[in-house]
Amino acid sequence: MSELNLILFGPPGAGKGTQAERLQAELRVPLVSTGEMLRSAVKEGTELGLQAQRYMDGGELVPDKLIVAMVSARVEQDDARDGFVLDGFPRTIGQAKALERQLGGLSRRVTAAILVNVSDEEVVRRISGRRVCVKSEHNYHVDFDPPKQEGVCDQDGSRLVQRDDDKPEVVRKRLAVYHELTEPLIAHYDKQGLMRWIDGTHRPAEVHDHIRAVIATLRLEEAV
Ligand code: AP5
Repeated sequence: MSELNLILFGPPGAGKGTQAERLQAELRVPLVSTGEMLRSAVKEGTELGLQAQRYMDGGELVPDKLIVAMVSARVEQDDARDGFVLDGFPRTIGQAKALERQLGGLSRRVTAAILVNVSDEEVVRRISGRRVCVKSEHNYHVDFDPPKQEGVCDQDGSRLVQRDDDKPEVVRKRLAVYHELTEPLIAHYDKQGLMRWIDGTHRPAEVHDHIRAVIATLRLEEAV
């Protein structure tokens, strides 16, 4: 396949980050996680971080203008020439259109938009048990994917914590924002024949296998 420009989207806590990390290791294209980029900007106290923090803390979307500028710059870097996996972008029709304009200008296009879908009840179960590594955001779940030693990252020994925006009232807001502003992307990409649906309720390894099968099909479709 010439290039693989994938979008992973779905409700908060659906497992996008978990799957993006696995895919990145296999596909050898960069993973572009807007949530992770924003959290780094907040930690570093950059201008973008200062502007983004209040939206993130309240479970709101950071304004399109800020996000689009951040992602556009990333997608044009050399390591993304053969493709990328976007985790958490686009999240609005405005962001989707901005990405299409940018890629179109580079004679590129989105290969597929993969929806990892779970119910709101499952989102709450997953997010309430999520723990992340303070250093590099490796993800765990106290019941579904526990670390070998409680509170310690298997990969680099760092401390595991709960994310600030994983408080129940913020999760409710993030879900409402998802239904209102991000779900319309399903119809947007479906119209273009780019939508692929994944049942995110299975174990992470099974969800991963399903996504790999989708990518294998995309490659076959391109070859015929
Ligand atoms: P972001 O970090 O992107 O948050 P999100 O979309 O709400 O997604 P999460 O990171 O919470 O969950 P996930 O789907 O990656 O699930 P995970 O793999 O961790 O964004 C944060 C904020 O930044 C936004 O609210 C917004 O303010 C801002 N922002 C970001 N992008 C933006 C944009 N484009 N525009 C505007 N604003 C933007 O899994 C969750 C838990 O479940 C983990 O504990 C995991 O171990 C467990 N788990 C995963 N898979 C499974 C499974 N199959 N079975 C059981 N457990 C599982």
